[in-house]
Amino acid sequence: MINIPRGTQDILPEETKKWRYIEARLDQLMELYNYEEIRTPIFESTELFARGVGDSTDVVQKEMYTFKDKGDRSITLRPEGTAAVVRSYIENKMQGLPNQPVKLYYNGPMFRYERKQKGRYRQFTQFGVEAIGAEHPSIDAEILAMVMHIYQSFGLKHLKLVINSIGDIDSRKEYNNALVKHFEPVIEDFCKDCQARLHTNPMRILDCKVDKDKEAVKTAPRITEYLNEDSKAYFAEVKQHLDDLGIKYEEDPNLVRGLDYYTHTAFELMIDNPNYDGAITTLCGGGRYNGLLELLDGPSQTGIGFALSIERLLLALEEEGIDLDMGHEFDLFIVTMGEEADRYAVKILNDLRRDGVKADKDYMERKVKGQMKQADRLNAKYTVVIGDQELEDNKINVKDMQSGESDLIELSKLVNYFKN
Ligand code: HAM
Repeated sequence: MINIPRGTQDILPEETKKWRYIEARLDQLMELYNYEEIRTPIFESTELFARGVGDSTDVVQKEMYTFKDKGDRSITLRPEGTAAVVRSYIENKMQGLPNQPVKLYYNGPMFRYERKQKGRYRQFTQFGVEAIGAEHPSIDAEILAMVMHIYQSFGLKHLKLVINSIGDIDSRKEYNNALVKHFEPVIEDFCKDCQARLHTNPMRILDCKVDKDKEAVKTAPRITEYLNEDSKAYFAEVKQHLDDLGIKYEEDPNLVRGLDYYTHTAFELMIDNPNYDGAITTLCGGGRYNGLLELLDGPSQTGIGFALSIERLLLALEEEGIDLDMGHEFDLFIVTMGEEADRYAVKILNDLRRDGVKADKDYMERKVKGQMKQADRLNAKYTVVIGDQELEDNKINVKDMQSGESDLIELSKLVNYFKN
């Protein structure tokens, strides 16, 4: 037997129902906020992520599915969506579009070679949003409000929004220098990854899982001390908007995010339930990326966005015991008795479906009782039983499964009855 690759999952019909419901809800929410869908390829040039996400990040160093295609090009299955959306923005010259900022969203599979855990997969589905072309605290606030709206609209309550400012590119440079100075004398005691990060990406030492309890991490300089006046003012305005909107948040100066492109606002939404015992608590993450477009040879536009995985959204729903109210599923199940009735059912099913009625019948030659059970399993709103008598009399009882009441109608008018 050939098994599914590690870190991937089959999403079976019971689950795809939930996925489709969630994805439809997300589409609706995006319309409210005036964001439009973009679809980019599943694979891109490796260089896009090496440059965009950052050579020194774990994602690029350890987690990418990279291979040579038959034309000897280095190709990578996308580990995230932002770099690809920004590539597309640049390539399609979206800075010239009449509607600015350009507000985009996407939803699709991403690939990271990570250790499998509950809520962590090697193929996962990211729903992400990017607003490109405006540097204004109100758009940062819109993105954060949208994150909260999405989760709350599914009924989730145990949520904690954590925010930080990484400052502009100058502030970040100053801060990185200070971190190098701080960690250099003690770096020998740190893990191999942190030793490598010291000169390539010192901020990442702050959220290393291995070294998180080291004294030097606790006493490290804080980004807040290195924000220049512009960065401080920008962050203050974002927070003012959040306060105006009544959005609660926690500030964490050690929240640095795993990807290199962030400047100013950075955030994560976490599960905040004292009884939750899973290792993964981050539901969603994002932030502003002011240098990314130029880094990818684009115009000097800036952007902000976030991404969440549907897998973790489902995890959070399960955690809070929330059943999605997906409504009644099925219109009509036709129970048949005898060959002639079955033939008749094939014909009217065809007509019913073409008129938009969700309908089905038995294909397993079940007895009437078994067919009724099947109707139950399908959660059919109505059933009819067709046998020789019904065919002869041209009369049929349409039974409402919830109330138990029946309507006696002409069999030849069944399609019309449901059409109306
Ligand atoms: P990220 O924090 O790497 O950011 O990922 C965002 C979200 O994707 C996570 O919070 C989590 O919900 C989900 N995720 C990541 N890895 C996995 C995994 N292995 N299994 C399941 N879910 C996962 C980004 O990717 C940025 N592109 C977000 C962004 C958009 N920043 C600005 N714009």
